[in-house]
Amino acid sequence: MKHISIKLGFYFLVCVTFIEAVLFALLYFSLVNTRVDEEVSSLLARGNSHSDVLEKYFDPQTIMHVALMESEAETKVVITAEDGKILAKSNNVDTAMEEHLAKDMGSVPEKGMVIENHWKTSNYICTVSPIQVQGETKGYVYMFLGTDSIEKMIERLTHQFLVIAAITFLLTVVTMFLLSRSLTQPLIRMKKATERMSKGDLSVSLNIKSNDEVGELAHSIQTLANDLNYMKKERSEFLASVAHELRTPLTYVRGYADIAMRDTLSLEERNTYLTIIKDEADHVTGLVQDLFELAQMEKHNFIIEKQETDLYDFLEKIVTKVQLAYEDKQIRILLSCPKDIVVSIDQKRFEQVIINLLDNAYFHSQLSSIISITVKSSQSSIQIVIQDQGEGIPPEDLPHIFERFYRVDKSRTRATGGSGLGLAIVKEIVEFHGGTIAATSQVGKGSVFTITLREQ
Ligand SMILES: Nc1ncnc2c1ncn2[C@@H]1O[C@H](COP(=O)(O)OP(=O)(O)OP(=O)(O)O)[C@@H](O)[C@H]1O
Ligand SMILES: [Mg+2]
Repeated sequence: MKHISIKLGFYFLVCVTFIEAVLFALLYFSLVNTRVDEEVSSLLARGNSHSDVLEKYFDPQTIMHVALMESEAETKVVITAEDGKILAKSNNVDTAMEEHLAKDMGSVPEKGMVIENHWKTSNYICTVSPIQVQGETKGYVYMFLGTDSIEKMIERLTHQFLVIAAITFLLTVVTMFLLSRSLTQPLIRMKKATERMSKGDLSVSLNIKSNDEVGELAHSIQTLANDLNYMKKERSEFLASVAHELRTPLTYVRGYADIAMRDTLSLEERNTYLTIIKDEADHVTGLVQDLFELAQMEKHNFIIEKQETDLYDFLEKIVTKVQLAYEDKQIRILLSCPKDIVVSIDQKRFEQVIINLLDNAYFHSQLSSIISITVKSSQSSIQIVIQDQGEGIPPEDLPHIFERFYRVDKSRTRATGGSGLGLAIVKEIVEFHGGTIAATSQVGKGSVFTITLREQ
């Protein structure tokens, strides 16, 4: 069986049919027993009422009258004297009746008793009621009911039961079919959706509203499809950006190489062009290195080797290192950091983070402005705040600056020749350290980048 709805429906059907069959059988047998018991007790009651009449008037006329009354009914009556002699009978006494009449019954209770109630094995069911006048037993009233009439009744009952059973089975089949279909329909839709997804069609819309486990599964599949769709889009955008970023410097390399090959150039001119070619080659190398690092980080192949570091010493060293390079713009770096803070960081990676942020501040600052590094320590976290007085970042760009290849100034000019990967790498490294980075900025006033590290 391949289809889950058929399988589910079949198993349900088997179980429910079994339960129904057991219940039907129980009901059938108890009904049959009740009906037979009813017949027997009504036969006994009839016998008793005859004996009651005869107890009052025990004379030949009344005896004949009782026998006559029964001759038209389905039941048969035989009235005997105390010694067993037949006084009157409503019909002929056949051998089966004779057997019962001949049976020694011992003492018959006043309320009468049942002599035979096996409707399947004997021809009659039979009761006897004593006729007692002034405490003395004068005779007996035997009542007989042919079991063929009971059999007929049972047959009718059986027929009715079969019809009802057939209807019940039919209704069960239909119900199970509909139920299993409605249960499995969402599963089948999800299966089809995932098949489509694996073939690359990510435009999945499942629209399953139930809030049970099936609904949750549908929701997860929908989220998966949306995420995959987003990643697919992002990947192609990323590849386009990479191609674009590589093309620009390579175009320069090619162009300047052409020029440098001309015979008419002086040595000095040629050197200038070769220097440009080298710069561009360096740029491409840097770019490829950055991309490689990002890829490593995303694959989680990136190993950071944390070590206990005195934060002041660490920042101080970096400031001394970059200060010289920033001299040309007369930019000063102010470091304000408490001396006793120890953090657990990968020094090489974290230096990359700080230098990236300082470089950004430097590139976007005017002549002789100030960049400040302020460290604040609270009980649970340490904040490193890098603030500049530069041009700032427009609010619409601010949410995107940590994305790969995102630059506020879209044209990659030679002066601001960044690739837009710096902050993406910074963010990854900070997050690898279990920290966060956030930026605020005001156009014309400057930007603030805040790294928050949790105290380990
Ligand atoms: N301190 C800042 N002041 C103004 N703008 C900034 C500052 N820092 C970043 N930006 C803006 O955010 C963009 C992204 O910065 P990011 O460091 O990722 O790239 P980049 O500096 O252009 O290139 P890269 O760092 O890879 O050489 C920058 O292009 C710049 O427009
Ligand atoms: Mg940068």
